[in-house]
Amino acid sequence: MRVAVIPGDGIGVETTAEAMKVLRRTADVFGRAIELETLPWSADHYLRTGVTMPPDGYATLRQFDAIFIGALGDPRVPDNRHARDILLGTRFELDLYVNYRPVRLLDARLCPLKDRAPADVNFVVFRENTEGLYVGVGGRFKAGTDDEIAIQEELNTYKGVHRIVRHAFEFAKAAGRRSVCMADKSNAMTQGHALWQRVFREVAAQYAGIEARHLYIDALALLMVQAPAQFDVIVTNNLFGDIITDLGAALQGGLGLAASGNLHPGRTSMFEPVHGSAPPLAGKNVANPMGAILSAALMLDYAGWKHEAAAIEAAVQHAVVNGQGTKEIGGSLGTKETGDYVAAAVR
Ligand code: IPM
Ligand code: MN
Repeated sequence: MRVAVIPGDGIGVETTAEAMKVLRRTADVFGRAIELETLPWSADHYLRTGVTMPPDGYATLRQFDAIFIGALGDPRVPDNRHARDILLGTRFELDLYVNYRPVRLLDARLCPLKDRAPADVNFVVFRENTEGLYVGVGGRFKAGTDDEIAIQEELNTYKGVHRIVRHAFEFAKAAGRRSVCMADKSNAMTQGHALWQRVFREVAAQYAGIEARHLYIDALALLMVQAPAQFDVIVTNNLFGDIITDLGAALQGGLGLAASGNLHPGRTSMFEPVHGSAPPLAGKNVANPMGAILSAALMLDYAGWKHEAAAIEAAVQHAVVNGQGTKEIGGSLGTKETGDYVAAAVR
């Protein structure tokens, strides 16, 4: 397996190093071959060369079996154009239409809600990843004046909505999940989200064994906090998915634990922790690498390395329940020591 690794900026560099450490160890233990090729694209690289990503960058990425990204974002690049090209660009150019974000509580102690057990927080969010409000369509008129008009269009296509909703149902079927909940704001966004309504009904009708539920996104946010146990599979648009997966990360114990995959089934896909580059924490060996390590596990699982992925997940779980991790999850280890611990646990 050949993986393109883009550590990126800030703590992304540190958490990626630990995820790679665990990947190497896992390949070793299972007698597998994995080749990790680091690509330098980052804020540093941009500031040094003036290039966010070379013109053949996306074509280069397509040649790998998988892509791993740490985090992107740096105060020295105020408009974060490198992040747009490298992260959003990869999602768009490789057409990675599924943003797969599992929300799983590993230890009751980590949940900010009172009296919640791991069984109460165990669902999956499928976030549409190639359209919505992220397409950058719109413009500013009379910018910088008191008459400024800013327009940001939300793009919804039949094809785009259909393929993410279908993916959610296919996942539910394969994983033995009972229900799929689609969240939109069709009571206010009466054009674009009417399309979501139509497609959801159409696709749901093809999956008789799976309960199809609809919630407005604001109600979903409420219920995710009040009664998260009811959720199995959630499917929603790009922006709403962005927001509720941060909320989901909070339910599972913090952004440092959240993992994600950006997928186009059957094609080269990209895996990244949900956390950002966290500039104030960078270089201090304090960032939690668990989200990055769990993203590496998602990558192996997607590649069909099921036992290897399960071993990493079990090792992380073991570390977390034994309090072996960084400060914000109640441990006393640094980033590197957490990676060492999980790697040893894989063995
Ligand atoms: C995420 C991030 C990105 C997003 C940012 C960095 C553009 O918040 O992956 O959730 O909004 O998609
Ligand atoms: Mn986000």
